[in-house]
Amino acid sequence: MREKKGQNLIELHCHLDGAITPKIAKQLAKLQGIALPTEEDEELKKYLMVSPACQDLNEFLSCFAFPGSLLMTREGIREAVRLILKDMELDGVIYAEFRFAPQLHVNTLYESKQEATQPAELHKITSQEEAVQAALEGLAEAKIKCNLLLCLMRGADEEKNRETIEVCKKYLVEDGGVVGLDLAGAEGLFPTRNYREEFELAASYGIPFTIHAGEADGAESIREALSFGARRIGHGVRLYEDQELLKEVIERKIPLEMCPTSNRMTRAVVDMGQYPFMDYLRNGVKVTLNTDDPGIEGTTLGKEYEYMEAEFGLTKDEERQILLHAVDAAFTTTRVKEQLKSRILKNEL
Ligand code: HPA
Ligand code: ZN
Repeated sequence: MREKKGQNLIELHCHLDGAITPKIAKQLAKLQGIALPTEEDEELKKYLMVSPACQDLNEFLSCFAFPGSLLMTREGIREAVRLILKDMELDGVIYAEFRFAPQLHVNTLYESKQEATQPAELHKITSQEEAVQAALEGLAEAKIKCNLLLCLMRGADEEKNRETIEVCKKYLVEDGGVVGLDLAGAEGLFPTRNYREEFELAASYGIPFTIHAGEADGAESIREALSFGARRIGHGVRLYEDQELLKEVIERKIPLEMCPTSNRMTRAVVDMGQYPFMDYLRNGVKVTLNTDDPGIEGTTLGKEYEYMEAEFGLTKDEERQILLHAVDAAFTTTRVKEQLKSRILKNEL
Protein backbone atom coordinates (compact mmCIF):
# COMPACT_ATOMS: atom_id res chain seq x y z
CA MET A 1 0.00 0.00 0.00
CA ARG A 2 1.34 3.46 -0.84
CA GLU A 3 2.17 5.83 1.94
CA LYS A 4 -0.54 8.20 3.09
CA LYS A 5 0.67 11.59 1.87
CA GLY A 6 -2.00 13.77 3.37
CA GLN A 7 -4.59 13.13 0.69
CA ASN A 8 -8.12 13.09 1.93
CA LEU A 9 -10.01 10.79 -0.41
CA ILE A 10 -13.68 9.93 -0.81
CA GLU A 11 -14.82 6.45 -1.89
CA LEU A 12 -18.39 6.10 -3.14
CA HIS A 13 -18.27 2.79 -5.00
CA CYS A 14 -16.68 -0.21 -3.30
CA HIS A 15 -18.14 -3.73 -2.92
CA LEU A 16 -17.61 -5.75 0.25
CA ASP A 17 -16.98 -9.06 -1.54
CA GLY A 18 -14.75 -7.31 -4.08
CA ALA A 19 -12.52 -5.83 -1.36
CA ILE A 20 -11.06 -9.04 0.11
CA THR A 21 -7.27 -8.91 -0.26
CA PRO A 22 -5.08 -12.00 0.38
CA LYS A 23 -4.21 -10.59 3.81
CA ILE A 24 -7.86 -10.09 4.74
CA ALA A 25 -8.78 -13.53 3.31
CA LYS A 26 -6.22 -15.15 5.62
CA GLN A 27 -7.55 -13.29 8.64
CA LEU A 28 -11.15 -14.22 7.81
CA ALA A 29 -10.22 -17.86 7.22
CA LYS A 30 -8.40 -18.06 10.56
CA LEU A 31 -11.25 -16.41 12.44
CA GLN A 32 -13.79 -18.82 10.97
CA GLY A 33 -11.76 -22.03 10.87
CA ILE A 34 -11.97 -22.20 7.09
CA ALA A 35 -9.16 -23.99 5.22
CA LEU A 36 -7.79 -21.88 2.37
CA PRO A 37 -6.54 -23.59 -0.80
CA THR A 38 -3.12 -22.05 -0.04
CA GLU A 39 -1.51 -19.68 2.50
CA GLU A 40 0.86 -18.17 -0.08
CA ASP A 41 -0.13 -14.61 -1.04
CA GLU A 42 0.92 -15.03 -4.66
CA GLU A 43 -1.03 -18.29 -4.95
CA LEU A 44 -4.04 -16.84 -3.12
CA LYS A 45 -4.16 -14.00 -5.61
CA LYS A 46 -5.00 -16.56 -8.28
CA TYR A 47 -8.19 -17.35 -6.35
CA LEU A 48 -9.03 -13.80 -5.35
CA MET A 49 -8.04 -11.70 -8.33
CA VAL A 50 -9.31 -11.40 -11.84
CA SER A 51 -7.04 -12.68 -14.60
CA PRO A 52 -5.58 -10.12 -17.02
CA ALA A 53 -7.24 -12.12 -19.80
CA CYS A 54 -10.73 -11.33 -18.41
CA GLN A 55 -13.08 -10.73 -21.33
CA ASP A 56 -16.11 -9.04 -19.84
CA LEU A 57 -18.19 -8.19 -16.77
CA ASN A 58 -19.73 -11.68 -16.67
CA GLU A 59 -16.31 -13.29 -16.33
CA PHE A 60 -15.26 -10.63 -13.82
CA LEU A 61 -18.30 -11.39 -11.67
CA SER A 62 -17.38 -15.08 -11.51
CA CYS A 63 -14.43 -14.05 -9.28
CA PHE A 64 -16.74 -13.20 -6.39
CA ALA A 65 -17.59 -16.77 -5.38
CA PHE A 66 -14.39 -17.39 -3.42
CA PRO A 67 -14.29 -14.16 -1.36
CA GLY A 68 -18.04 -14.58 -0.88
CA SER A 69 -17.45 -17.95 0.82
CA LEU A 70 -15.54 -16.12 3.59
CA LEU A 71 -18.52 -13.85 4.23
CA MET A 72 -21.28 -16.23 5.30
CA THR A 73 -21.16 -15.68 9.07
CA ARG A 74 -21.88 -12.61 11.20
CA GLU A 75 -18.32 -12.73 12.50
CA GLY A 76 -16.88 -12.94 8.97
CA ILE A 77 -18.84 -9.96 7.67
CA ARG A 78 -18.19 -7.84 10.75
CA GLU A 79 -14.44 -8.50 10.65
CA ALA A 80 -14.23 -8.03 6.87
CA VAL A 81 -15.91 -4.62 7.08
CA ARG A 82 -13.63 -3.61 9.94
CA LEU A 83 -10.46 -4.69 8.10
CA ILE A 84 -11.44 -3.16 4.77
CA LEU A 85 -12.26 0.18 6.38
CA LYS A 86 -8.93 0.05 8.23
CA ASP A 87 -7.11 -0.42 4.89
CA MET A 88 -9.07 2.48 3.42
CA GLU A 89 -8.09 4.67 6.35
CA LEU A 90 -4.40 3.85 5.74
CA ASP A 91 -4.91 4.75 2.08
CA GLY A 92 -6.19 8.22 3.00
CA VAL A 93 -9.95 7.70 2.67
CA ILE A 94 -11.92 9.97 5.00
CA TYR A 95 -15.43 9.00 3.88
CA ALA A 96 -16.52 5.70 2.35
CA GLU A 97 -19.73 4.32 1.01
CA PHE A 98 -19.50 0.65 0.99
CA ARG A 99 -21.98 -1.69 -0.69
CA PHE A 100 -23.05 -5.32 -0.60
CA ALA A 101 -25.97 -7.55 -1.53
CA PRO A 102 -27.25 -9.06 1.74
CA GLN A 103 -29.04 -11.85 -0.15
CA LEU A 104 -25.65 -13.29 -1.24
CA HIS A 105 -24.65 -13.89 2.38
CA VAL A 106 -27.68 -15.83 3.58
CA ASN A 107 -27.02 -19.55 4.11
CA THR A 108 -29.74 -21.75 2.72
CA LEU A 109 -31.06 -24.60 4.86
CA TYR A 110 -29.47 -27.09 2.50
CA GLU A 111 -26.02 -25.55 2.86
CA SER A 112 -26.17 -25.31 6.63
CA LYS A 113 -27.00 -29.02 6.94
CA GLN A 114 -24.08 -29.94 4.70
CA GLU A 115 -21.40 -27.96 6.44
CA ALA A 116 -20.54 -28.87 9.97
CA THR A 117 -16.88 -27.89 9.82
CA GLN A 118 -17.07 -24.38 11.27
CA PRO A 119 -16.67 -23.79 15.00
CA ALA A 120 -20.04 -23.95 16.75
CA GLU A 121 -19.72 -20.45 18.21
CA LEU A 122 -19.87 -18.84 14.77
CA HIS A 123 -23.22 -17.46 13.69
CA LYS A 124 -24.22 -18.47 10.19
CA ILE A 125 -26.33 -15.81 8.58
CA THR A 126 -29.90 -16.91 8.05
CA SER A 127 -31.58 -13.68 6.90
CA GLN A 128 -30.74 -10.54 4.93
CA GLU A 129 -31.41 -8.50 8.04
CA GLU A 130 -28.75 -10.40 9.96
CA ALA A 131 -26.23 -9.76 7.18
CA VAL A 132 -26.97 -6.04 7.40
CA GLN A 133 -26.67 -6.07 11.19
CA ALA A 134 -23.25 -7.75 10.93
CA ALA A 135 -22.04 -5.14 8.43
CA LEU A 136 -23.30 -2.36 10.70
CA GLU A 137 -21.35 -3.84 13.60
CA GLY A 138 -18.18 -3.66 11.49
CA LEU A 139 -19.03 -0.11 10.45
CA ALA A 140 -19.41 0.94 14.07
CA GLU A 141 -15.79 -0.04 14.73
CA ALA A 142 -14.35 2.10 11.92
CA LYS A 143 -12.40 5.30 12.52
CA ILE A 144 -13.38 6.86 9.20
CA LYS A 145 -16.87 8.08 8.37
CA CYS A 146 -18.74 5.47 6.41
CA ASN A 147 -22.16 4.47 5.20
CA LEU A 148 -23.68 1.37 3.70
CA LEU A 149 -25.58 0.80 0.44
CA LEU A 150 -27.55 -2.40 -0.12
CA CYS A 151 -27.41 -3.95 -3.60
CA LEU A 152 -30.30 -5.54 -5.42
CA MET A 153 -28.99 -8.22 -7.79
CA ARG A 154 -29.70 -8.51 -11.49
CA GLY A 155 -31.06 -11.97 -12.23
CA ALA A 156 -32.01 -12.70 -8.59
CA ASP A 157 -35.44 -13.89 -7.43
CA GLU A 158 -37.82 -10.97 -7.31
CA GLU A 159 -38.68 -11.86 -3.73
CA LYS A 160 -35.08 -11.56 -2.60
CA ASN A 161 -34.70 -8.13 -4.16
CA ARG A 162 -37.99 -7.04 -2.55
CA GLU A 163 -36.70 -8.24 0.80
CA THR A 164 -33.56 -6.12 0.33
CA ILE A 165 -35.74 -3.06 -0.28
CA GLU A 166 -37.76 -3.74 2.88
CA VAL A 167 -34.62 -4.25 4.97
CA CYS A 168 -33.23 -1.03 3.54
CA LYS A 169 -36.41 0.83 4.47
CA LYS A 170 -36.24 -0.56 8.01
CA TYR A 171 -32.59 0.41 8.57
CA LEU A 172 -32.46 3.62 6.52
CA VAL A 173 -30.75 6.57 8.22
CA GLU A 174 -29.40 9.88 6.94
CA ASP A 175 -25.88 9.06 8.06
CA GLY A 176 -23.95 6.43 10.02
CA GLY A 177 -25.63 3.30 8.65
CA VAL A 178 -27.70 2.16 5.68
CA VAL A 179 -28.21 5.18 3.42
CA GLY A 180 -29.43 3.76 0.12
CA LEU A 181 -29.75 1.07 -2.53
CA ASP A 182 -27.91 -0.04 -5.67
CA LEU A 183 -28.46 -2.53 -8.48
CA ALA A 184 -25.44 -4.75 -9.22
CA GLY A 185 -24.73 -7.87 -11.28
CA ALA A 186 -24.66 -8.80 -14.96
CA GLU A 187 -26.01 -5.73 -16.76
CA GLY A 188 -25.46 -7.30 -20.18
CA LEU A 189 -27.68 -10.26 -19.31
CA PHE A 190 -30.41 -8.62 -17.20
CA PRO A 191 -31.26 -5.16 -18.53
CA THR A 192 -32.00 -2.20 -16.28
CA ARG A 193 -35.53 -1.80 -17.68
CA ASN A 194 -36.52 -5.06 -15.89
CA TYR A 195 -36.12 -3.39 -12.49
CA ARG A 196 -38.55 -0.49 -12.80
CA GLU A 197 -41.06 -1.82 -10.25
CA GLU A 198 -38.38 -2.43 -7.64
CA PHE A 199 -37.05 1.11 -7.88
CA GLU A 200 -40.52 2.62 -7.99
CA LEU A 201 -41.12 0.91 -4.68
CA ALA A 202 -37.78 2.16 -3.32
CA ALA A 203 -38.61 5.70 -4.48
CA SER A 204 -42.04 5.50 -2.83
CA TYR A 205 -40.21 4.76 0.44
CA GLY A 206 -37.95 7.79 -0.10
CA ILE A 207 -34.81 5.62 -0.36
CA PRO A 208 -31.93 7.24 -2.26
CA PHE A 209 -30.36 4.96 -4.85
CA THR A 210 -27.61 4.57 -7.40
CA ILE A 211 -27.64 1.99 -10.22
CA HIS A 212 -24.78 0.29 -12.09
CA ALA A 213 -25.51 1.35 -15.67
CA GLY A 214 -23.66 2.01 -18.91
CA GLU A 215 -20.94 -0.45 -17.89
CA ALA A 216 -21.75 -3.68 -19.79
CA ASP A 217 -24.78 -2.18 -21.55
CA GLY A 218 -25.27 1.01 -23.53
CA ALA A 219 -26.50 4.52 -22.77
CA GLU A 220 -30.12 3.37 -22.81
CA SER A 221 -29.41 1.58 -19.53
CA ILE A 222 -28.37 4.93 -17.99
CA ARG A 223 -31.51 6.58 -19.37
CA GLU A 224 -33.65 3.88 -17.72
CA ALA A 225 -31.84 4.21 -14.40
CA LEU A 226 -32.40 7.96 -14.39
CA SER A 227 -36.06 7.51 -15.32
CA PHE A 228 -36.46 5.38 -12.16
CA GLY A 229 -35.06 8.25 -10.08
CA ALA A 230 -31.43 7.13 -9.62
CA ARG A 231 -29.52 9.99 -8.00
CA ARG A 232 -26.17 8.68 -9.21
CA ILE A 233 -24.93 6.23 -11.83
CA GLY A 234 -22.45 3.44 -11.12
CA HIS A 235 -19.81 3.67 -13.90
CA GLY A 236 -21.83 5.34 -16.70
CA VAL A 237 -18.85 4.75 -18.99
CA ARG A 238 -20.99 4.46 -22.12
CA LEU A 239 -22.84 7.74 -21.60
CA TYR A 240 -20.97 9.21 -24.60
CA GLU A 241 -23.06 6.99 -26.90
CA ASP A 242 -26.04 9.33 -26.42
CA GLN A 243 -25.13 13.01 -26.70
CA GLU A 244 -28.61 14.17 -25.67
CA LEU A 245 -28.42 12.14 -22.51
CA LEU A 246 -24.90 13.42 -21.88
CA LYS A 247 -26.31 16.97 -21.97
CA GLU A 248 -29.07 15.99 -19.56
CA VAL A 249 -26.59 14.40 -17.14
CA ILE A 250 -24.54 17.62 -17.19
CA GLU A 251 -27.59 19.87 -16.70
CA ARG A 252 -29.06 17.74 -13.93
CA LYS A 253 -25.63 17.39 -12.26
CA ILE A 254 -25.95 13.60 -12.07
CA PRO A 255 -22.76 12.15 -10.55
CA LEU A 256 -21.00 9.21 -12.23
CA GLU A 257 -19.12 6.76 -10.01
CA MET A 258 -16.29 5.82 -12.37
CA CYS A 259 -13.77 3.08 -11.57
CA PRO A 260 -10.89 3.02 -14.10
CA THR A 261 -9.17 -0.25 -13.19
CA SER A 262 -12.49 -2.08 -13.04
CA ASN A 263 -13.60 -0.50 -16.31
CA ARG A 264 -10.35 -1.64 -17.93
CA MET A 265 -10.69 -5.18 -16.57
CA THR A 266 -14.33 -5.65 -17.53
CA ARG A 267 -13.61 -4.06 -20.94
CA ALA A 268 -16.33 -1.46 -20.45
CA VAL A 269 -14.26 0.36 -23.05
CA VAL A 270 -12.37 -1.66 -25.64
CA ASP A 271 -9.34 0.61 -25.56
CA MET A 272 -8.38 2.66 -22.47
CA GLY A 273 -7.05 5.27 -24.89
CA GLN A 274 -10.75 5.99 -25.50
CA TYR A 275 -11.69 6.08 -21.78
CA PRO A 276 -14.07 9.03 -21.54
CA PHE A 277 -13.29 10.13 -17.94
CA MET A 278 -11.28 13.25 -18.83
CA ASP A 279 -13.75 14.32 -21.52
CA TYR A 280 -16.61 13.97 -19.08
CA LEU A 281 -14.74 15.95 -16.45
CA ARG A 282 -13.81 18.77 -18.82
CA ASN A 283 -17.34 18.94 -20.24
CA GLY A 284 -18.83 19.43 -16.78
CA VAL A 285 -20.03 15.94 -15.85
CA LYS A 286 -19.87 15.37 -12.08
CA VAL A 287 -17.46 12.45 -12.33
CA THR A 288 -16.07 10.77 -9.23
CA LEU A 289 -13.17 8.32 -8.92
CA ASN A 290 -13.62 4.98 -7.12
CA THR A 291 -12.21 1.45 -6.85
CA ASP A 292 -15.25 -0.85 -7.33
CA ASP A 293 -13.49 -4.06 -6.22
CA PRO A 294 -10.04 -3.29 -4.81
CA GLY A 295 -9.31 -6.91 -3.72
CA ILE A 296 -10.24 -8.46 -7.04
CA GLU A 297 -8.44 -5.76 -9.02
CA GLY A 298 -5.39 -5.38 -6.76
CA THR A 299 -5.93 -1.65 -6.39
CA THR A 300 -6.65 1.03 -3.77
CA LEU A 301 -8.30 4.42 -4.18
CA GLY A 302 -4.92 6.14 -3.86
CA LYS A 303 -3.63 3.95 -6.71
CA GLU A 304 -6.61 4.90 -8.88
CA TYR A 305 -5.67 8.58 -8.45
CA GLU A 306 -2.06 7.75 -9.31
CA TYR A 307 -3.18 5.80 -12.36
CA MET A 308 -5.28 8.72 -13.63
CA GLU A 309 -2.36 11.10 -13.04
CA ALA A 310 0.12 8.87 -14.88
CA GLU A 311 -2.08 7.76 -17.78
CA PHE A 312 -4.37 10.75 -18.31
CA GLY A 313 -2.45 13.68 -16.81
CA LEU A 314 -5.06 14.31 -14.11
CA THR A 315 -3.93 17.42 -12.22
CA LYS A 316 -4.11 18.18 -8.50
CA ASP A 317 -6.75 20.84 -9.15
CA GLU A 318 -8.81 18.33 -11.08
CA GLU A 319 -8.41 15.84 -8.24
CA ARG A 320 -9.77 18.39 -5.80
CA GLN A 321 -12.69 19.02 -8.13
CA ILE A 322 -13.46 15.29 -8.37
CA LEU A 323 -13.32 14.94 -4.60
CA LEU A 324 -15.75 17.85 -4.22
CA HIS A 325 -18.08 16.15 -6.73
CA ALA A 326 -17.91 13.03 -4.57
CA VAL A 327 -18.83 14.97 -1.45
CA ASP A 328 -21.82 16.55 -3.22
CA ALA A 329 -22.85 13.10 -4.46
CA ALA A 330 -22.52 11.32 -1.10
CA PHE A 331 -25.66 9.99 0.55
CA THR A 332 -25.11 11.79 3.84
CA THR A 333 -26.16 14.93 5.69
CA THR A 334 -25.31 18.52 4.77
CA ARG A 335 -23.39 18.84 8.01
CA VAL A 336 -21.12 15.87 7.19
CA LYS A 337 -20.64 17.19 3.65
CA GLU A 338 -19.49 20.55 4.99
CA GLN A 339 -16.95 18.86 7.26
CA LEU A 340 -15.65 16.71 4.39
CA LYS A 341 -15.39 19.70 2.06
CA SER A 342 -13.36 21.70 4.50
CA ARG A 343 -10.97 18.76 4.98
CA ILE A 344 -10.56 18.42 1.21
CA LEU A 345 -9.97 22.12 0.71
CA LYS A 346 -7.23 21.98 3.36
CA ASN A 347 -5.61 19.05 1.51
CA GLU A 348 -2.04 19.36 0.37
CA LEU A 349 -2.79 16.97 -2.51
N1 HPA B 1 -20.82 -4.30 -11.97
C1 HPA B 1 -21.87 -5.01 -11.53
N2 HPA B 1 -21.83 -5.70 -10.41
C2 HPA B 1 -20.71 -5.68 -9.69
C3 HPA B 1 -19.60 -4.97 -10.11
C4 HPA B 1 -19.66 -4.24 -11.30
O1 HPA B 1 -18.71 -3.56 -11.73
N3 HPA B 1 -18.64 -5.14 -9.18
C5 HPA B 1 -19.17 -5.95 -8.23
N4 HPA B 1 -20.42 -6.27 -8.53
ZN1 ZN C 1 -19.63 -1.96 -8.79
